[in-house]
Amino acid sequence: MSTLVKRALGGLLGVFVLLQFFQIDKTNPPITAGQDLLQLTSPPSDVAALIKSACYDCHAHTTAYPWYASIQPVGWWLKGHIEEGREHLNFSDWGSYPADKRAHKAEECAEEIREQEMPLKVYPITHPEARLSPEQRDRLAAWFEVLQASAGQDTPARLRKDMPMDKLPKAPQPVGADNPVE
Ligand code: HEC
Repeated sequence: MSTLVKRALGGLLGVFVLLQFFQIDKTNPPITAGQDLLQLTSPPSDVAALIKSACYDCHAHTTAYPWYASIQPVGWWLKGHIEEGREHLNFSDWGSYPADKRAHKAEECAEEIREQEMPLKVYPITHPEARLSPEQRDRLAAWFEVLQASAGQDTPARLRKDMPMDKLPKAPQPVGADNPVE
């Protein structure tokens, strides 16, 4: 190897070592109780598991950072996806979205899943549990479509896995002959 090549390689290695001093912040933002999509809508368990493993690392406050997030510049690149993902759509803040925004985001979720745009294509390479079969895509998208149709409600009854109608909280009764004011 010529001296020039050796120097160039040494320089690159030096830069790489220096980059490692600039680690990303892996602290997850706090979780506000009662705002999480899965909590609010309690989907069937297979749907909940798919959303959690295929979307939550980038669209919620529960990111599990892989070991290679500690290698820069890989970590910066991951962090960019996570910040951008949360900015566009944050399942940890779902309950704070107004009804029309929920409906719109649910519609986009169904679209992105059907068009194979989400999860981001690079993600399943290192997250095999996020590789969606055509049947899984169909089921997930169909669930988001029902959510879109009922997104004005916090707990759309049609989406709940195990809540028979008679267990739903009763609407307040109008005051009248059967329900006198005490
Ligand atoms: C590896 C990170 C990552 C994963 C995993 C991921 N997303 Fe995303 N998502 C992003 C990023 C980054 C954007 C913004 C840029 C873009 O649209 O490509 C985005 C954008 C979106 C948008 C567009 C929102 C808007 O208002 O523009 C939707 C909808 C979405 N994702 C749904 C999902 C769903 C549903 C899943 C799971 C099936 C998922 N994403 C998984 C990173 C991710």
